[in-house]
Amino acid sequence: MANAMWVPRSLKRDGPRYLAIADAIQQDVASGRLGAGAQLPPQRELADRLGLDFTTISRAYSEARRRGLVVGHVGRGTFVRPPAESHAHAEAIGPGGVIDLTANVPVQRVVVAAGDAMARTLPKIPADALHRLFGYGRNAGSDSHRAAGADWIARHDVPATPERIAITNGAQHGLAVILMALLRPGDIIAAESLNYSGLKGVADLLGARIEGIAGDEQGIIPDALRAACARPRDGGRIKIVVCAPTIHNPTGSVMPTSRRQEIAAIAREHDLTLVEDDTYGLLVRSAPRPLASLAPERSYYIAGLSKGVAPGLRIAYVLAPTSTDVARLADAIRLTTWMAVPLMAEVAARWIGDGTADRILDINRQATAERQTLARAMLSRWRIRSHPEAFHLWLELPAPWTGAQLALDARQRGVLVTPAEAFAVGGATAPAAVRVSLCSPADMPALEQALGVIGRLLDLGPGTGIAML
Ligand SMILES: Cc1ncc(COP(=O)(O)O)c(C=O)c1O
Repeated sequence: MANAMWVPRSLKRDGPRYLAIADAIQQDVASGRLGAGAQLPPQRELADRLGLDFTTISRAYSEARRRGLVVGHVGRGTFVRPPAESHAHAEAIGPGGVIDLTANVPVQRVVVAAGDAMARTLPKIPADALHRLFGYGRNAGSDSHRAAGADWIARHDVPATPERIAITNGAQHGLAVILMALLRPGDIIAAESLNYSGLKGVADLLGARIEGIAGDEQGIIPDALRAACARPRDGGRIKIVVCAPTIHNPTGSVMPTSRRQEIAAIAREHDLTLVEDDTYGLLVRSAPRPLASLAPERSYYIAGLSKGVAPGLRIAYVLAPTSTDVARLADAIRLTTWMAVPLMAEVAARWIGDGTADRILDINRQATAERQTLARAMLSRWRIRSHPEAFHLWLELPAPWTGAQLALDARQRGVLVTPAEAFAVGGATAPAAVRVSLCSPADMPALEQALGVIGRLLDLGPGTGIAML
């Protein structure tokens, strides 16, 4: 956000505009997009930028002040308030400052295991191989690296051949290059209406429209997808469905086989391309077969190593329907990064081959399961959706909470969670919920402390943040 003028990402369509802007400020403060001390734009500039009148912005800022989100300094402007200082706040703060439950990262033990493995692997790579790895390589990756990718993807229960694989710098890059290669003017992306923000971000950058499709605890709802595909439109059509059937981010849902079969059938009926982001898939020991094995002729499948093995590897394997499709992906890779970092692709291939990747994955699953067990026990009185091997859980809030309010109150107690509002796509109304990421706190006591704060806040009700001890 540095130096960039803050503007709301999206505004609720119903109700007064000034309240919609105040809500957007609240959401961005809660999610950290607007950090403590950040300056809001001068009222007139924001009014011009949004095409609204000055009074609307002025009322929005007054409302944000009334909610305790911002403070105004005459002659200097309006600034985001720092979290409240109090005894209870100090209690919730971990050694590194706040306790962050907003990041879907593996536990520190996994990253340490990966770092240690790297220190052992690098000296084993012969000099002539290193010389090759430090030159330019092929855009989709070398044959041996793609063969390792095929091996890895086969473990996800998807038959794969190296010619159908392109290597990208992580799953997010994979998603971006697939959409760059596939999207044509007027194409609409269908995706669950609560979704990973990286999908929204890349669709926005590419100027593509996402249509939010309702989901439930089993993922995207087939009838809702069918109805969206059949809806008459002035221009464009739904062409691509992006989904994460095994541990959806943020709701944690896992799509059962019958629903996967239905989604594959709808894709055939409406000639859709499926983009299956299986970033979390290998964390789950017994996941149903991916969509890519049910409809291989129309599926792009992303198997990333970031969540299961190490985010810093920045390696993901993308399986395309045919080798011709890989050529299109290779163009998008060339235009974005030329090629995934060859040294990292080499390390990933060695780790897949020598069992290191499996060993780290096991450490990861075990640590993640411990955290899920703790969280389920501590939040058992509340409605949560999660999976024992997921990094996050979805906490549905009782009335009158909203996700943004809980995120704000928790932040004042030194705990960060992500409100549902941050995941709503295509103008969807966010339910009262937050995503709680369990693996980012440094240790179990820090997680326990943070979950304790959330539980106590829920007991006390909204707006009680400062008073809570
Ligand atoms: C659903 C989903 N896809 C992709 C990514 C990004 O993965 P990578 O780090 O491999 O780019 C994330 C990270 O949070 C994610 O949740």
